[in-house]
Amino acid sequence: MSEIRRIGILTSGGDCAGLNAAVRAVTLHAHGNLGWTVVGIQKGTLGLLSRPLQYETLDPRRFTGQLLRMGGTVLGTTNKGDAFDYPMPDGSRIDRSGEIIEGYRQLRLDALIGIGGDGSFAILRRLAQQGGIRLVGIPKTIDNDVGSTESAVGHASAVAAATEALDHLQPTAASHDRVMVLEVMGRDAGHIALSAGIAGGADAILIPEIPADLAHVAAKIQALKAHGRNFALVVVAEAVRTETGEAMRQAAGETASYGGIGHWVAARLEELTGAETRVAVLGHIQRGGKPIAQDRLIASALGVHAVDVLAEGRHDRLVAWRNRIVIDVPLEDAIRTYAAVDLEGPLVHTARSLGISLGDGASTP
Ligand code: F6P
Repeated sequence: MSEIRRIGILTSGGDCAGLNAAVRAVTLHAHGNLGWTVVGIQKGTLGLLSRPLQYETLDPRRFTGQLLRMGGTVLGTTNKGDAFDYPMPDGSRIDRSGEIIEGYRQLRLDALIGIGGDGSFAILRRLAQQGGIRLVGIPKTIDNDVGSTESAVGHASAVAAATEALDHLQPTAASHDRVMVLEVMGRDAGHIALSAGIAGGADAILIPEIPADLAHVAAKIQALKAHGRNFALVVVAEAVRTETGEAMRQAAGETASYGGIGHWVAARLEELTGAETRVAVLGHIQRGGKPIAQDRLIASALGVHAVDVLAEGRHDRLVAWRNRIVIDVPLEDAIRTYAAVDLEGPLVHTARSLGISLGDGASTP
């Protein structure tokens, strides 16, 4: 029997669609079936750092209506502020992990469920080890770069948003005889670009895992034109580099996020092909929408399993989705293994077989 009666839950890192579905699943199962109290910690670990502490006891009745369907996270989140290297207003950086652990203790919690990505798990696991916290992780990220799970909460909805964007771009591209470039997120992984590009009928997909020579993309566009096609769709992942190896970044507050490669690609393609080119940068539209069914399903299954893991007296685990079943693996695996696009995997093969240029000039198998 587990000694657990009272658990905390927090969302950490960039938000995505499906976080509320995961919080809901944890609350309904832990409270409804096991009688545990579920404490929602606000704004990730910031809620434990603030004094007074920022939290709310989660009442299952709150989850009977809208929340399953809603994007964002009702708990709030942050993707800044490493507890062990915390930026202070005077510009110094200090270790504030002890304050967070003290905050956790003040809430008299028996365990913690963290919903995050690899960066969040690295910090949460360190805190758990230092503070003797029983921690279970639920993977979420639109980027889908967490190792050990085929799908993280939020990825499928981001792919759906990017696919829908291509559905919107194709008719206008065809009406104006244009090349449309869609820049999508994904940080250092090309999963969103590759999946949405295939699903949305792109002619070229550029991902950070495959260095591109735009001459190949231009040749593809010219070949389409020679066969009577008057438009082309190009998807580019935000971390793709220029031909000189430069990553494009945009200042965003104190930090710089990826951004701008779409405009660079468009300008180069216009030079190389003479075609009129336009750019759409999808940005946070990929994160903020309502979760599609697949994400609600994964979030619900992973949320329930996270509670089951704790109820079985286990912790330091990541719950994961593999081959349509829910498993759990050591949390350390999620931190150590980065999931980039598999260049030998089925989606790269599919893209090439459909005649989509991946910018490397490789011929169709
Ligand atoms: O990791 C999720 C993500 O949306 C990335 O795809 C993107 O590079 C980054 O976060 C954007 O972060 P921010 O919300 O801080 O602009």
